[in-house]
Amino acid sequence: MATLDINQVRACFPSLRSGHIYADNARGSQTAQSVIDRIVDYLSNPNIQSGTDYSVANSQRVVEGSIAVAELFNAASLDEVGFGSSSTMIFENIARALENDIQPGDEFIISYEHEANNGPWKRLAARRNAVVKYWQPTPVSAENPYSLTYKVEELLPLVSSRTRLAAINACSNILGSLIPVKETVKALRQRANEQGAKRLEVALDCVAYASHRKLDVQEWDVDYCVFSVYKVFGAHNAAAYVRLAALERSLTSIAHDFLKVDDKPYKFQPGGPGHELVYGAAAIVPYLKSLTPEDDLAASFNAIANHERELLAPLLLFLTDAKQVDRGVRIVGTSEINLSRVPTVSFVVVGQNAIKSKDIVGAFEKKGGISIQCGNFYSYHLIDNLRPKLDVNDGVVRISFVHYNTVEEVEKVVDALREVLER
Ligand SMILES: Cc1ncc(COP(=O)(O)O)c(C=O)c1O
Repeated sequence: MATLDINQVRACFPSLRSGHIYADNARGSQTAQSVIDRIVDYLSNPNIQSGTDYSVANSQRVVEGSIAVAELFNAASLDEVGFGSSSTMIFENIARALENDIQPGDEFIISYEHEANNGPWKRLAARRNAVVKYWQPTPVSAENPYSLTYKVEELLPLVSSRTRLAAINACSNILGSLIPVKETVKALRQRANEQGAKRLEVALDCVAYASHRKLDVQEWDVDYCVFSVYKVFGAHNAAAYVRLAALERSLTSIAHDFLKVDDKPYKFQPGGPGHELVYGAAAIVPYLKSLTPEDDLAASFNAIANHERELLAPLLLFLTDAKQVDRGVRIVGTSEINLSRVPTVSFVVVGQNAIKSKDIVGAFEKKGGISIQCGNFYSYHLIDNLRPKLDVNDGVVRISFVHYNTVEEVEKVVDALREVLER
């Protein structure tokens, strides 16, 4: 199996040359040079608005962005992908476009995750008198009440004959765990059929997932899928997949009323996306494919997953060591070092010698050289519902790596953590 050439990887990211350790990648990754080059190229050669006779080359560049993103999603057609300034905005746009198709009494199942895939559905439910049900994560270990994971057996009883939408996350931006998307969606659809639900659609948030594993909307059988390009080595925008059937049957256009966009992404993407950023996104696929000799996304993501497991191990082993557990360290999420988890690790320090999350991050900031983060990361309700209760604004300490991080960097982060926790 191919492994990553980490020096080659790191050479693709100009900001890594400083030697600063980015251990907060779930917040946003560094940007690949090839993405930067395309953005500069688009704006300099020259920046003509697309849609005119003399801007054919620019329009083609924007299409290149869609082609790349369609490949990343494994969408069946270019008409199924669109862009927006953020995943939050795309979900809100999709919810607005879905409004006419929601009846009073319809039910939405929402997982307790980042508000981007919660808020739009809650607001839509309020506008249309729909009902919101929550899929909550539950602990896997009696010793650690924060050892949360999502269990399908807790999801299925929420399905009824009125279930219209399930809004779930492929990976939790706090817990770091992956849900088995294909199996979960299959079980959901089967239960919905048994209950006599007329049409269940699945909205999948892949923002915390897309830099770690390969997307496959067709294999997963989802209707809506979103990820933020700025977390996948690109610039600050986001990409959406909407299944053609949903475009045709479920959404009412939120674009200008005189535009004929019945089966086009413009239905949920009113106005042009940042064209230079869309063109920049076209560089992500070649970058990812360059990681392994196979020149293939699946092979690259396998190599990424294996490398990331190596990054996860030293951090999780340290935080779950008996000494740290006695000291009050609790992982928020599961502690297994396997491929059902990405190297996004959250923890709190509780008990007699509790430390506020912001004080741990503050100690790192004072020392310099390493970025980590704390807070609720907009997964407000997940953190607010942890029991024993935590301060929802202080939240958790979150350390998150991606494939350009090295084991040596992880070890330095662990050394710095040891200093803070053992002083
Ligand atoms: C899981 C998850 N979903 C959605 C978002 C929101 O993404 P955006 O900033 O593109 O709106 C984030 C951002 O951190 C996230 O982690």
